[in-house]
Amino acid sequence: MRTKIVAGNWKMNNDKNESKALIKHLKKALKNEPLENTRVIVAPTFVNLSSSIKTAKDSKVEVVAQNMHQAKNGAYTGEISAQMLKAIGIKTVILGHSERRTYFNETDASLAEKVDAVLENNLETIFCFGELLEDRKSDTHFAVVESQLKNALFHLEADAWKSVVLAYEPVWAIGTGETASAEQAQEMHAYIRSIIEKQYNKEVADAVSILYGGSVKPANAKEIFSKPDVDGGLIGGAALNVADFTGIINAI
Ligand code: PGA
Repeated sequence: MRTKIVAGNWKMNNDKNESKALIKHLKKALKNEPLENTRVIVAPTFVNLSSSIKTAKDSKVEVVAQNMHQAKNGAYTGEISAQMLKAIGIKTVILGHSERRTYFNETDASLAEKVDAVLENNLETIFCFGELLEDRKSDTHFAVVESQLKNALFHLEADAWKSVVLAYEPVWAIGTGETASAEQAQEMHAYIRSIIEKQYNKEVADAVSILYGGSVKPANAKEIFSKPDVDGGLIGGAALNVADFTGIINAI
């Protein structure tokens, strides 16, 4: 059975105390939840990772990073490496979020290097990708998604996929209040699984968790998560509020 995941991407929100408070509330809310085969993840900003790890200790809440640089170290002002994240206890790094691609010029090629750096350090990645509105309107969304996966991930050996979680996030649905329908999510997730099977094999395709992201809320989560190829969600706005985030966790 594939692992279910609800991951909150806090983006550039929550200072140290707010991060602490949110994790504490989450811990309390999840204390008596069985959470069978389900991971609950939060991604605070870099400066709050260490304190968040401390706050989340011995709980069902995992703390992950939102990004990292591909180099081991060196003259990259303002950047943070996989080794540095690992040294503070981080095990998972989100890569390729559409905001990173759009505002910080991340490309499939640079993301392929980041994925390699994550895996070389025995970390896991939650790898984000998804089409723009114009891609969907011009009916090229399947081709766009396929090329994003091919260029950033298909150089990996089959075995490396044990450390990869996928997050399909149609860019037109991120932070817009507009969600892909459960049918649109299922259709794309099934397509993603089919191209992974073609490139690798059925075992790899069946094992990888594929999350949906883009305006997931307690009100729509249940329907989206009910689809057979949707294994959870990457949540932005609704992850900043305990009631909404736990509502989404309950939906899974
Ligand atoms: P949203 O963000 O839930 O606010 O649409 C999703 C994301 O950016 O991962």
